[in-house]
Amino acid sequence: MQAVTPMKWNFKPELVCLFGQPVAENPTQHMIEAAFRHHGLDWRYVTMEVAPEQLEAAVAGMRAMGFRGGNCTIPHKVAVQKYLDRIGESASLIGAVNCIVRQDDLLVGENTDGKGFLQSLRDLQEPRGRRVMMFGAGGAARAIAVELALAGVEHIQIWNRSEARGRELVDLLHQRTDVAADFHSWQQDAPIDASVDVLVNATSIGLFPQVDERIPLIEKDLRENLIVADVIPNPPQTRLIREARSRGCQVLDGLGMLVNQGVLGFRYWTGVDPDPAIMRAALEEVFGT
Ligand SMILES: NC(=O)c1ccc[n+]([C@@H]2O[C@H](COP(=O)([O-])OP(=O)(O)OC[C@H]3O[C@@H](n4cnc5c(N)ncnc54)[C@H](OP(=O)(O)O)[C@@H]3O)[C@@H](O)[C@H]2O)c1
Repeated sequence: MQAVTPMKWNFKPELVCLFGQPVAENPTQHMIEAAFRHHGLDWRYVTMEVAPEQLEAAVAGMRAMGFRGGNCTIPHKVAVQKYLDRIGESASLIGAVNCIVRQDDLLVGENTDGKGFLQSLRDLQEPRGRRVMMFGAGGAARAIAVELALAGVEHIQIWNRSEARGRELVDLLHQRTDVAADFHSWQQDAPIDASVDVLVNATSIGLFPQVDERIPLIEKDLRENLIVADVIPNPPQTRLIREARSRGCQVLDGLGMLVNQGVLGFRYWTGVDPDPAIMRAALEEVFGT
């Protein structure tokens, strides 16, 4: 009889996850797993619906089961901080965490949203010295405004529907960064000042299924030398992006930010620099762009 050579098998993949509610329409798992396959990593990214009252237990479960990290999204980005061991510098400035990284036995909270946006912008223009007009003052806007400020933009206009949130963001920028910023109450169509270099929609206007909702701005002010960026990933070709492109602006869709924040998370968890083209292609497959 032939002797059987003992072999060592490892059936245990490394795990990362996404917590949110609702979360089923979030395409991050599809994007990250495409990169795991491309780079030959035996890792899994699992999307989990977690209610706010279960967040503490979910983070404890992550520790108990040895997860290497993950992402968190609405409504957990602020609340998750109290269950983590340490918060990174820009996440602490922004006041929200969207990326969790296990370092030895510690869970560290980072924010990659704003850095992801910045990377997309840098593909078109260096932000230092530029003037920015931003719609919104929620989580995405805070992350983007803080990173733009740290990257040396000269001035940021914050336009927001609710005054309290808008002023809170301007106060944060004044207290914690060197950027000049001012608040604009956003109750009607906003004029775009001729000195603005970059216009950013960081509100949820245009997100599926409200794809036809119009952003209140004066469309004829969209001019050729303006960069227009939208954070909305679904659909990527938003009404704003289509309008800006038809008027000759350079445009950045929300997939760029989503890919670049994913690249940063991937690198934090695995130590591998993923190929952003593979990740973008996975998203385009989903959204049919
Ligand atoms: N591409 C990416 O990688 C990426 C990453 C993160 C987030 N996002 C997207 O960013 C968007 C915002 O997320 P968030 O976390 O910042 O949400 P959030 O904290 O709930 O903030 C929403 C913002 O949108 C404003 N807003 C919503 N509906 C509006 C309307 N009809 N008119 C005027 N203002 C309106 C809100 O104004 P008020 O303060 O007046 O309510 C607030 O400033 C979401 O659509 C999300 O998908 C994309």
